[in-house]
Amino acid sequence: MLKGKVAVVTGAAMGIGQATTELLLQKGAKVALLDVNETAGNSAKEALDEEHGAESTLFLQCNVESDKDVKDAFRATVETFGGIDIVCNNAGILNEDNWEKALSTNLAGVIRVGFVALEHMNKLTGGRGGVIVNTASLAGLMPAPVFPVYSATKHGVVGFTRSMAAASVVLGYGIRFNALCPAIVQTNLLTTMEAQMGQFSTLYHLVEMTVRSGVLNASEVAEGALELLTDETKNGEALILKHDEKKYMTFPSP
Ligand SMILES: NC(=O)c1ccc[n+]([C@@H]2O[C@H](COP(=O)([O-])OP(=O)(O)OC[C@H]3O[C@@H](n4cnc5c(N)ncnc54)[C@H](O)[C@@H]3O)[C@@H](O)[C@H]2O)c1
Repeated sequence: MLKGKVAVVTGAAMGIGQATTELLLQKGAKVALLDVNETAGNSAKEALDEEHGAESTLFLQCNVESDKDVKDAFRATVETFGGIDIVCNNAGILNEDNWEKALSTNLAGVIRVGFVALEHMNKLTGGRGGVIVNTASLAGLMPAPVFPVYSATKHGVVGFTRSMAAASVVLGYGIRFNALCPAIVQTNLLTTMEAQMGQFSTLYHLVEMTVRSGVLNASEVAEGALELLTDETKNGEALILKHDEKKYMTFPSP
């Protein structure tokens, strides 16, 4: 399904990014894994190499907070694989104490990666067009008292995604932009959640209540990402994923 396509996945060493990378490889794409965690990135690549061959992937240590890292990683991907068709803009953290870092990673990071991706993919400047999926969250579509800063960053990701989708249509980039909005997913982000909630950790019982009613696993979220990547009718959409439901957000017109 994705034979001949080249994908970049940020935050690819663990969790949702790792599961998405695996699925893209299964569908025939070549994938550049970008992650700030070099040890986890190298072992993720090693594990994938056994099944998919070393030449299908590239691990590049990359902090999405750094212009230089992101530019270097995209350049290296193009040099190795010859172009870029797909970007999964997935790296993200929860950190209500160090809220500036959360903003810098989750929102500025997504914008930075999006703009660098545009330089390589924009049909107007010699790119081959393609699709970008930004990982937002259900907390990007509704208030989340348990982590207000995280929620703000994810609302930002949804707004940026929908606006870029509209810009792409008007300006003719040839790139679709969609947002993935999962509820709680069983990853490292969940296991470290209470410690990262800062002053809001007194509300952790609300998280526990939600978790008791069911959580997604990372591969279910990867399937959602694949739908947004492959369904050419989707642009500017926010796909909501819950453990028992999948639906597209209907936005009110102002
Ligand atoms: N787990 C959930 O409940 C949940 C729900 C909705 C959305 N999300 C979002 O999904 C995305 C992936 O989260 P996850 O649950 O797989 O978390 P995770 O902690 O398992 O994985 C995140 C990955 O991102 C990497 N990363 C962190 N900061 C980075 C940076 N500055 N530059 C590059 N890489 C960086 C980490 O090293 C890690 O490999 C995030 O954007 C997160 O906000 C998660």
